[in-house]
Amino acid sequence: VKQAVVLLGGRGTRMWPLTATVPKGLLPVAGVPFIELQLRELTSVGVEQVFLAIGSDHEAAWREYAPATDMAVELSVEDSPLDTAGPVAALLDRLDERFLVLNGDVVLEGSLPGFVDQAPDFPAVLALVEVDDPSAYGVVMTAPDGRVERFVEKPPPGEAPGNRVNAGMYVLERAALAAFPSGSLSFEKDVFPDLVEHGKIGATTIEGDWLDIGTPELYLQAHDAAAAGRIQSVELASSGASWAWISPDARVSSEASVVESVVLPDADIGAGAVLERAVIGWGARIGAATIRGATVVGAGADVGDGCELAAGLRVAPGAVLEAGSVSFSPPD
Ligand code: GTP
Repeated sequence: VKQAVVLLGGRGTRMWPLTATVPKGLLPVAGVPFIELQLRELTSVGVEQVFLAIGSDHEAAWREYAPATDMAVELSVEDSPLDTAGPVAALLDRLDERFLVLNGDVVLEGSLPGFVDQAPDFPAVLALVEVDDPSAYGVVMTAPDGRVERFVEKPPPGEAPGNRVNAGMYVLERAALAAFPSGSLSFEKDVFPDLVEHGKIGATTIEGDWLDIGTPELYLQAHDAAAAGRIQSVELASSGASWAWISPDARVSSEASVVESVVLPDADIGAGAVLERAVIGWGARIGAATIRGATVVGAGADVGDGCELAAGLRVAPGAVLEAGSVSFSPPD
């Protein structure tokens, strides 16, 4: 397999407001743009040409990005979103007989070589990972020869028929997509159900550390993994059980406390600020506020003294929270 398509054109609503400024695939994990992790994986299996399928809204950010790789990396820009399979179908003329497709927001480090080697012989092959709680995912049921028998989307907790889920990595043959019309097309809703019906889709289980940056909590967990030394290509120093990633371009007062939090470039963290599992966007200013609970502060926002932000709160880019204007604690 010499070619890959990486799907990077989603709206990234669950990662808003960070994705208002930077596309999800360029969000840094301890300073390393997430796409770099995928490009390293693709290099490890000898891929030579990668198409980054992006939306036109973030085209400027992607054009500015210079990939650190010897592979040929090309942008494929959609004027309107084509969903997950549409961007691949649109590239079919440029693709070899067999190629890889990766979701842009998940990586299973070290898993691609095994996946490509073990892929059973079907026009489409899915990588599956075992998870403890499959209720948020698409569960995939297979026959002993690897043929996919059915998909069960987001089964209620405790009622899942299995615990292997779609990892968002596919080896495809051109034939798998050839029969579909051009335009918006979904792997999950259109392509895979059709291929199951015709017995043309297989799956194999892979192992590796699953990193997903789809939500703020998962984004913080990717940093937990880096701090624990579980991501080969990302270094994040930790002291004991805790870590903090502070951009070299950010300013943090010596009288602020930053624990298990990400402070992006140009942010300014003032004296008395307490951050615990917080993500502070580019150029945001934080006063003597407490920010915790996977809360995300958008780029250029201003959080005044005495604010208490928690419970996954999202502060819009550029928003100004006056001193003491937001709190979860009733006054004494
Ligand atoms: P949410 O809005 O938070 O659900 O994020 P998302 O838009 O990224 O959606 P989702 O996580 O379901 O998408 C899975 C993968 O497909 C991600 O890597 C997306 O970037 C990608 N994707 C989703 N829709 C499109 C699209 O229309 N075009 C392209 N090129 N990629 C897409």
